[in-house]
Amino acid sequence: MENNITVSVPGKLMVLGEHAVVYGYPCIVTAVDKYLTVEGKKIPGKNDKINSYGNKDLSFVKNAIFLIREKYDIGDKFQLDIRSEISGMGLGSSAAVTVGTVKILSVILGLNLSSKEVFDLSYRVVRINQPMSSGFDIASCIYGSTILFDGSTKKVKKITDKILPLIAIFSGKKADTVSMVDQMAHLYKNNPVKTKRIFDSIEKLVKKGVDAIKNENWQILGKLMNENQKYLKELGVSSEILDRIIDNALQSGANGAKISGAGGGDCIIILASEEKKKIITERLLEKNYSVLKI
Ligand code: PMV
Repeated sequence: MENNITVSVPGKLMVLGEHAVVYGYPCIVTAVDKYLTVEGKKIPGKNDKINSYGNKDLSFVKNAIFLIREKYDIGDKFQLDIRSEISGMGLGSSAAVTVGTVKILSVILGLNLSSKEVFDLSYRVVRINQPMSSGFDIASCIYGSTILFDGSTKKVKKITDKILPLIAIFSGKKADTVSMVDQMAHLYKNNPVKTKRIFDSIEKLVKKGVDAIKNENWQILGKLMNENQKYLKELGVSSEILDRIIDNALQSGANGAKISGAGGGDCIIILASEEKKKIITERLLEKNYSVLKI
């Protein structure tokens, strides 16, 4: 019997540039210290054995195994045990379980896949369920840190390894990424001039955001996040509850706050100085908001 191998994949938050990245624009994404782990080994027998704790959707895992089996002509069967701290709140569990499966099979089978190969395979898998996906979340799973992801070339540039002073609040509602992306596609088709103008403006924010993060200028980054949020609202992907959390955070002294990801639910990210972070967190907890430990 083979020894078990374990792969840990981090969750993510979108700092700036969601939706626009689907149309080839850049975005900034940061990895968080909450993980999905895949433990696995080859097993004898005719079937794979997949046990999943905290991550219900196994289609990404099954598609990843299928794709690798087919591409590398592999007959082995596997046991995979998946544990997730990041499911159901927009921290990127679909991408993480895909990357985790591709990576662990690469190690178990000695395929030695490069990061680019892990990206390409994972991206194929994710697009089976989410055809318009930009791949930013896959890149975050693979490269960690805070990165600039180019939605058109899929290239990654590291911005920093340092921790960003962020708070993440789960809105209590899981976002339906595919339908939010479809909704945006409708808007793009029906109103291309307006949508493109907004995406062009978001791109400018992302470019300024890279410098703000490098210079650790949280006041500027906060302003950029607020501007990004205004554009996301104009694009129709915010919601009453998301707006309420944002207003609360800004009134309590945050530098900036916005949705992270597709919108309609999932998480709000709040940027604040270390001292303000404490006050904001306390106030949000008093109002029974779900502050994530990241
Ligand atoms: O909802 P999330 O956290 O999966 O983020 C989606 C981000 C989009 O830009 C809307 C889609 C994408 O694939 O980039």
